[in-house]
Amino acid sequence: MTKKVFIKTFGCQMNEYDSDKMLDVLHAAEGYEPTDSADEADLILFNTCSVREKAQEKVFADLGRVKHLKRRGVRIGVGGCVASQEGAAIVERAPYVDLVFGPQTLHRLPALLAAREREGRPQVDIRFPEIEKFDHLPPPRVEGPTAFVSIMEGCSKYCSFCVVPYTRGEEVSRPLDDVLTEVADLADQGVREVTLLGQNVNAWRGDMADGREHGESADFALLLEYVAEIPGIARIRYTTSHPREFTPRLIEAYARIPKLVSHLHLPVQHGSDRILAAMKRGYTALEYKSIVRRLRAVRPDLALSSDFIVGFPGESDDDFERLMALVDDVGYDSSFSFLYSPRPGTPASDLRDDTPHEVKQRRLARLQARLDENVRAISASRLGTVQRVLVEGPARKDPTLVTGRTECNRLVLLPARPGLIGEMVDVRITEATQRWLRGEALAGETVAAG
Ligand code: SAM
Ligand code: F3S
Repeated sequence: MTKKVFIKTFGCQMNEYDSDKMLDVLHAAEGYEPTDSADEADLILFNTCSVREKAQEKVFADLGRVKHLKRRGVRIGVGGCVASQEGAAIVERAPYVDLVFGPQTLHRLPALLAAREREGRPQVDIRFPEIEKFDHLPPPRVEGPTAFVSIMEGCSKYCSFCVVPYTRGEEVSRPLDDVLTEVADLADQGVREVTLLGQNVNAWRGDMADGREHGESADFALLLEYVAEIPGIARIRYTTSHPREFTPRLIEAYARIPKLVSHLHLPVQHGSDRILAAMKRGYTALEYKSIVRRLRAVRPDLALSSDFIVGFPGESDDDFERLMALVDDVGYDSSFSFLYSPRPGTPASDLRDDTPHEVKQRRLARLQARLDENVRAISASRLGTVQRVLVEGPARKDPTLVTGRTECNRLVLLPARPGLIGEMVDVRITEATQRWLRGEALAGETVAAG
């Protein structure tokens, strides 16, 4: 009988990507199929996140809820950043857990499962074995015209508030040829849009397959050029990039590569130089705005989104007003904003923090209201315009509609007609809400793949 795996994913796109890879690995090695129900699963995996909140506690609460399923022989695994941080401590606290694996060892899942059966005891493997993971992953399974491609792992920026460098290890780039082969393979299977993934994609450096380091000549800007030349690829996105490594060459790429979307997620985190320095972000608000100005000089319609942290230790009213001023200056589209959450083991967790929680919450609410205002205004400005949309599939709740995304990543609903899915179409926008747009495809306007 086909074995089934239930995977619950917490956190970022990187974790979503890793969960897909867990499924690919288990499917290729043991024929596992996914299930939405933990009750009918043979294997239950939690892909955890420890970037904010009491993530550990959330994981143990979830584990407690599936513990009773062990009676019928279910195997339970914990992966992701909590696993990486806690390691064997997870098994000590929850001895019914069979597997603990990190973001860099998920490709070993079949071997870990086999060892669990052979040895009759829990298996823990949370090492960072360089980039070995990618050599052991089966070819990606394509679902629809969009796909994610991981181009690097880890992060070496060590922002003072962040656990990622400790849970995912230092930055390691995937070799250029590997990335290009994967994109070409996806394009052959009908993928039109790729999102290049990594914690700091613009720190990517091109080790060629023969091991030579090409330094300056194989940077992220060059990678984008190569990806744009792959037949069938019509759109390129990437996330996340870091302002510190936003080179003039990458800015120029926006002039040279029309397939690069006019949408950029460039996390600023804060608008006060004092706080940015305490966060160890490595740039000032002015330097950040200068990148945005130069980008918009080559791409006037560029939409920007960001991550913001409110309530970092020592944030004064004046600091917060500087953040609001930056938000007004840049005019962000749909973004993520969080209350600062002290993470064990990070330098910022030792800083004195006198700001009352209610003050932080009020600041966050103000920021979010302003961001929402911007999003509504940007959506409204689309009304009556023609947007190029990549049609991704049928609408979940209404089979007479299909959904797609604009370059700026807005969800668009439009009437279904045969042959539309997977096509790039020009759509006139007839209705605009904060979160989605509705429109009609202009007659005969499908756009050929480049
Ligand atoms: N690589 C990305 C960048 O360039 O900034 C960030 C990756 S991190 C997983 C995603 C976001 O989580 C960050 O941009 C930050 O806003 C938020 N974050 C990280 N640590 C946090 C903390 N301790 N408290 C609140 N938010 C945090
Ligand atoms: Fe975290 Fe800063 Fe890296 S936010 S992922 S340490 S760029």
